[in-house]
Amino acid sequence: MTQKLWTAVDDYINQQVVPSDLALDAALAACAEAELPAISVTPSQGKLLQMLALLVNARNILEIGTLGGYSTIWMARALPGDGRLITMEFDPKHAQVASDNIANAGLENMVEVREGNALELLPELAAEGLEAFDLTFIDADKCNNLQYFEWALRLSRKGSLIIVDNVVRDGRVIDAEDSDADIQGIRSLFKRMATEPRVLCTAQQTVGSKGYDGFAIALVTG
Ligand code: SAH
Ligand code: DHB
Ligand code: MG
Repeated sequence: MTQKLWTAVDDYINQQVVPSDLALDAALAACAEAELPAISVTPSQGKLLQMLALLVNARNILEIGTLGGYSTIWMARALPGDGRLITMEFDPKHAQVASDNIANAGLENMVEVREGNALELLPELAAEGLEAFDLTFIDADKCNNLQYFEWALRLSRKGSLIIVDNVVRDGRVIDAEDSDADIQGIRSLFKRMATEPRVLCTAQQTVGSKGYDGFAIALVTG
């Protein structure tokens, strides 16, 4: 009565307000075909990311952790014609699947998949002196969440949003006995968000077809 129901309600929400779409369906099918892990955001989460991007009038979006580009496609569709999304992916196979999915969605001119370790790519990106990112979606190796948040903050402007996926992990976040590096990474992130005066932060627990997890959201106010 938990996971089964959460999945059924997610299906219901999708049927009601998150209509399926050829390019998004094809992207998920290609991820499965290539045997990528089934950890893309859910459709309703993807749509939430898209709506948040629209809310901040995003022209520049940064994503850390591409996988097969499913969340990328949702967010890139919120961009105006001259908008741009940069997404970072460590695994060459994931990056290739993502590039194909992004091209299939007709977004190859707006989206740049940067292949490599985000910890190395982020300083390079900062050195390019691009416009600030209006939205950053952090969804890579959770052990490095703190570093990713620092870079996101540095690359933001007043009014930018920073969203971090997977900050609850079945409640493991509050298990003091849990010394897993990814869980520690989530706690370091919360600790940092709590003391950073330039951001307004909250987090939401979520249940759905991907189980029990959550998002953290930071609005850059200064
Ligand atoms: N945002 C995607 C899911 C990302 S899954 C979606 O919702 O559709 C996490 C991805 O981060 C994986 O593809 C993994 O290979 C990548 N990753 C993990 N560590 C990384 C690192 N240090 N630098 C860049 N990418 C990394
Ligand atoms: C898992 C889920 C995610 O959204 C992610 O980014 C990484 C891992 C998981 O369920 O294992
Ligand atoms: Mg995730």
